[in-house]
Amino acid sequence: MSKKLFQIRSRLIHTLRAKNQHSLHSPFVFAWYNKVVLNQDNWQPSNRPEAMRQRFLSDSSVDQGEDSGTRAAGNTRTISQVAKRALGPKHKLELLYRIIRLQEPRSILELGTCLGVSAAYLAEGANAKVTTVEGNSYLSELAANELRQHGYNNVDCINSRFDDIISRESDKLHLPWFIYLDGNHHYDATLKYFNIFIERARQDCILVLDDIYWSKGMAKAWKEIVSDRRVPISIDLFHLGVLIFRFNQPKQHFRLRA
Ligand SMILES: C[S@@+](CC[C@H](N)C(=O)[O-])C[C@H]1O[C@@H](n2cnc3c(N)ncnc32)[C@H](O)[C@@H]1O
Repeated sequence: MSKKLFQIRSRLIHTLRAKNQHSLHSPFVFAWYNKVVLNQDNWQPSNRPEAMRQRFLSDSSVDQGEDSGTRAAGNTRTISQVAKRALGPKHKLELLYRIIRLQEPRSILELGTCLGVSAAYLAEGANAKVTTVEGNSYLSELAANELRQHGYNNVDCINSRFDDIISRESDKLHLPWFIYLDGNHHYDATLKYFNIFIERARQDCILVLDDIYWSKGMAKAWKEIVSDRRVPISIDLFHLGVLIFRFNQPKQHFRLRA
């Protein structure tokens, strides 16, 4: 089965099986769903992240950075194309903003800065330092400049391969942390990063995995993560997989409409 067909099939299965707030018996997840997914408190980020996106969408300069393994060999691409294809959609990034706003983490780590639009949403959600990592030096620098120009002084853009800094940066995080993994969507890498984070997970930390049905490998990794005994609460929102480390709750998995 092609990757596209796998994604369509996964989407269909999710639509058929996902539940909404009416079937939630866990008071914690019921409240979480109402605030994060249904946005019952009408939390709105500023328009700065979307202004950044618009700026990049009209940037026709060529991406001069290194490839992180997602580009076809020899292909050149403009920043506008990167902005169109790689940035998370507004709806998804607003979910992240509300997860953070509810959680109030003391540190935020993002793997996969790209042009910094998601980092801006993460910074909007909490009064905490955001560290964001990108392997492509050109994109990392563009993101850092744009974030600075929009007044995001609490975002630290690091240009590095994930593997080179992940343990070091994870050790620097204050509890409870929020980690967003949005790059290197492969089975081995996802499980490797998950195992590094889970060792450091404590009460009320949150780990969000992006694009859990992007490929068969990602879906397999997500299935294994969900069944891991060390994960108390897992929430499948299709585009995002959310792990909430509330160790005083019985282990539960939820597949929810978002
Ligand atoms: C989907 S994009 C991130 C989009 C961004 N979070 C947003 O929504 O605004 C993923 C990024 O991760 C970077 N990346 C992928 N694998 C990487 C790795 N192993 N080390 C460093 N960066 C990597 C890619 O260069 C790409 O820019």
